[in-house]
Amino acid sequence: MTESLFRESSGTVQNANRPVHGSINPSELRALGLNPNDVLDFSASINPLGPPDSVTHTIINTDISKYPDPECLQLREAIANHVNVDPSFVIAGNGSTEIIHLLARAYLNFNSGKRPTSAIFTPTYGEYRGASELMGASIIDLPCNPKPPFLWDFDDIYKIIKANKPSLTFICNPNNPTGLYLDEHILSTLASVVADIKGLLIIDEAYSNLVENRWDSIGIAQKGNTVLLRSMTKDYSLTGIRIGYAIGAPSIISDLSAYQPDWSVNSFAQEAGIAVLKDSDYLARARHTINTNKNYLISSLTDLGFSVPESNANFLLVNTGNAEAWRARLITKGIVVRDCTSFGIPDYIRIGIRSLGDCEKLIWAISEIIKDSTTM
Ligand SMILES: Cc1ncc(COP(=O)(O)O)c(C=O)c1O
Repeated sequence: MTESLFRESSGTVQNANRPVHGSINPSELRALGLNPNDVLDFSASINPLGPPDSVTHTIINTDISKYPDPECLQLREAIANHVNVDPSFVIAGNGSTEIIHLLARAYLNFNSGKRPTSAIFTPTYGEYRGASELMGASIIDLPCNPKPPFLWDFDDIYKIIKANKPSLTFICNPNNPTGLYLDEHILSTLASVVADIKGLLIIDEAYSNLVENRWDSIGIAQKGNTVLLRSMTKDYSLTGIRIGYAIGAPSIISDLSAYQPDWSVNSFAQEAGIAVLKDSDYLARARHTINTNKNYLISSLTDLGFSVPESNANFLLVNTGNAEAWRARLITKGIVVRDCTSFGIPDYIRIGIRSLGDCEKLIWAISEIIKDSTTM
């Protein structure tokens, strides 16, 4: 009985209340009879160069019989040196997602006797809402204009922030999934508005190192009420190892570290993080590759009749008219894309930029689907 239950089970333990993410879902592939190794994953947006060569050597030589440093001292020093701040401004996490949860735990509490509030610029990465809801916070959505280029009306939003005084305000730059990249003036002004209400602004820059013409945001984090989140998972394709960091005032970093379980950043992640930061031209090479492959995808998809809004990030939105159907069709061809229905934009799929060969396979698969539907 137990054995047959085990065999029939999809194996999933995912709680239905968790945020929806991209990437391959092994339970879903198993149900479709697909092998995860035969599938191309365009649903997660990771540096297409793959991890720098130094990572393999570093991992083989990591002593896993020792506990990792719970303070990640050397890694934090390497990051601090890389972004030019004092190490007291840096916390490392088990992916930037861990730090989103630390922020929620540290700052969304009921200490004042009132229910805490998070304000979230939407549509965006689901973990801000997920982490805030776990703390019992109420959420204020700050939606963008639903049409490309998916801009926010900042004057309206400043009024909402001033009236509601959220403890945390989350914005993603460039934004996932729209690819909109805001300039320094807008984010500095937003940081001042949030400072006036004594709140904390979180700028999630998970994709900013992969933006072609990015600006240096470190100055904003040094003002005192703003935290920058970065993802080495995305930057260096360390997806399986999980590594991210935050930059903010030392008092904030200290608040966050109070909630972080010791050793949550494992030894492989710490050593790999130190190693990849030494590879000084890797990110520039990645940006060049992303740009070339993105241009190929934009022109091919446009030729096939799709509308592709401008994106400054290493992913694109594609208006398919029915994301759920297109995701289902593509998966039968061994390609996984992100259905953006859970972002509230059900016409769009999101495509992470992969190698040119993989992008050609995607365009081939889409062309085949179009051909099949016109000959039916
Ligand atoms: C905007 C954004 N922030 C953070 C993350 C999580 O990154 P990490 O792997 O560093 O936890 C993602 C992952 O998709 C993301 O899209």
